[in-house]
Amino acid sequence: MSKPTILVIVGITGDLSKRKLLPAIEKIAQSRSKPDQFKIVGVTRQAIKPRDIIGKENYPYLEDHLSMFQMDLTNIDDYEKLKKHLADLEKTMWGAQKLFYLSVPPQISQPIVELLGKSGLANGETKLLLEKPFGTDLASAEELIQHTKKHFEEDQLYRIDHYLAKEMAQNLIVFREGNALIKRTWNKDFIESITIVASEKIGIEGRTAFYEQTGALRDIVQSHLLQLAALTLMDSPAPGKLNQVPARRLQALQNLHVPHTKAAAEYAVRGQYKGYEKEVENPGTTTETFVRLELESDDERWKGVPITLLTGKGLAEKSTEVRLTYKKDELHEANELRIKLQPDEGIELRLWAKVPGYEWRVEQHELNLAFRERFGELPEAYEQVLVDAINSNHTLFTGSDEVLESWRIIEPLRRAWEMSGSKLIRYKTGEKPESIAEKAII
Ligand code: BG6
Repeated sequence: MSKPTILVIVGITGDLSKRKLLPAIEKIAQSRSKPDQFKIVGVTRQAIKPRDIIGKENYPYLEDHLSMFQMDLTNIDDYEKLKKHLADLEKTMWGAQKLFYLSVPPQISQPIVELLGKSGLANGETKLLLEKPFGTDLASAEELIQHTKKHFEEDQLYRIDHYLAKEMAQNLIVFREGNALIKRTWNKDFIESITIVASEKIGIEGRTAFYEQTGALRDIVQSHLLQLAALTLMDSPAPGKLNQVPARRLQALQNLHVPHTKAAAEYAVRGQYKGYEKEVENPGTTTETFVRLELESDDERWKGVPITLLTGKGLAEKSTEVRLTYKKDELHEANELRIKLQPDEGIELRLWAKVPGYEWRVEQHELNLAFRERFGELPEAYEQVLVDAINSNHTLFTGSDEVLESWRIIEPLRRAWEMSGSKLIRYKTGEKPESIAEKAII
């Protein structure tokens, strides 16, 4: 059972709140993980009612427990009023913790943090939940972290990378540790290469301004893909010590870098889907919607193993997975292990087997543990994020040092692209990522 909780969603009218947060809250409210007393306050500039947010959705809990607070997020007096409003709610919720979820564009989250601090709302039982991107490069991330530190302690901060909270990302930790066969072969002696893919079918879905400033390198590689790489490459925590995971991820990131001896054009490919320029109404824009990036690790366990990160929008299919290709030898074929994060969560091992019949024919087939078939519906990442923040569990959140390390890793590439404007591959929507990467070689 958790503490009485007031969840304040700043930016409740936004897309993330409607698509992810509200359904997640409703699910949690129906589960055993719901705090005994749980109220949700939606903060917005507009004069609207909970019904305007809930719309036609069937959210019985939110209908009773969501209230709205109208304020100007740039006006300190309004923060004082919010403080008073929360104090009134707390009267029937003794010892309540307050979670501020900033579901707003990154450029306005900084002033909000400052005004929360100045108005005294950052004190006491307060937590701050922040959405990526955390900065736009290494320097701005450092500045952002310093700025936030003035008002909040590190343990009050919950920086969300929802990929870490995906069911199969969590399972990666258990799967590696819980199986002697996997644990013993999880190193350079057995693994030939590692590829981490997050391909999307959708385009930028109207997020023009955000995407033009961000691009795939900052949007997906710097956060989601590097966090999946960290989970794959890290040393496992001691048995039962999941709280060691963030430090282990950090260590893995500290060992990662772009190849020192290669130029950016040799270790990275950037692409843009055809029609993007028109969509964002910016002819000649070089914002990338596709990235293929090769990395290396200095960790003794992984020295010499190529690590490839691959992401793009407007591709053939939605698929997020971690692929480990096992080494082959003179007599034996290679095997492949796939940790599939979405859409069909599961673990797949590609094995060679004799095809039944009179002839001696050998083929590769999948041994597949399909989680939805086995367990039914799986929790959404945002449910886990909220439950963990409520329960003060930091394991699946990104620490400030991890944020800085991830920016450090991509900094040489970011600079190279900024300076040279290196080759941008144009691809048709619906292409396969491998075929786009090949175009860079031709
Ligand atoms: C977000 C990115 O962090 O993740 C989006 O900003 C992307 O561009 C999304 O579409 C993908 O998340 P998921 O959970 O659908 O794979």
